[in-house]
Amino acid sequence: MNEIRFNSVTLEGLKHIADEIAKNINGYRFLFLNGDLGVGKTTFVKFFCENFGISQDEVSSPTFAVVNIYEGLQTIYHVDLYRLNDLDELFYVLEGQLEDEEGIFLIEWANLFSDYFTEDHVEVNIYHNDNNTRDLVIKVYGKNKKVIDELRRLKNGERFENKV
Ligand SMILES: Nc1ncnc2c1ncn2[C@@H]1O[C@H](COP(=O)(O)OP(=O)(O)OP(=O)(O)O)[C@@H](O)[C@H]1O
Ligand SMILES: [Mg+2]
Repeated sequence: MNEIRFNSVTLEGLKHIADEIAKNINGYRFLFLNGDLGVGKTTFVKFFCENFGISQDEVSSPTFAVVNIYEGLQTIYHVDLYRLNDLDELFYVLEGQLEDEEGIFLIEWANLFSDYFTEDHVEVNIYHNDNNTRDLVIKVYGKNKKVIDELRRLKNGERFENKV
């Protein structure tokens, strides 16, 4: 597992991070988004999806639906596990979709069912900082080093520092 931390990330900074992950997500089907209510998980998904030709307006919180499906350059399954009670329910809602080997699964509140999702994945943990900024800890599991390398480059680059 490789880890990188970004402190005091503005909305614009979050956009850059989401773009960088989206551009390098190849090889991963799962991206987990963990963090308290209202911290920015769905906002991250909106930014991420734009990279697949899905407009921000199409993306909405799947808290009640459990999963929203967006057809872009790739099919994106936007999942929110907050209201799920147990594994049976998770199976019922997601089992068929999880067979889609080409799809990308963006899963809010994945930490609530962390034992269930064992495949290599990218995990974005978002923490409240102040009203307009967040701290991010991103963990990348598996052999694919592209995501972590590009995030390190982004963090070290002047381009990012100017914009956070
Ligand atoms: N730096 C920032 N990063 C992310 N969101 C921010 C930031 N600054 C302000 N916000 C605002 O915080 C709110 C985050 O709401 P969002 O729906 O994305 O949270 P969420 O984590 O998905 O919540 P829930 O757990 O209810 O699904 C948005 O209104 C967003 O504009
Ligand atoms: Mg949300």
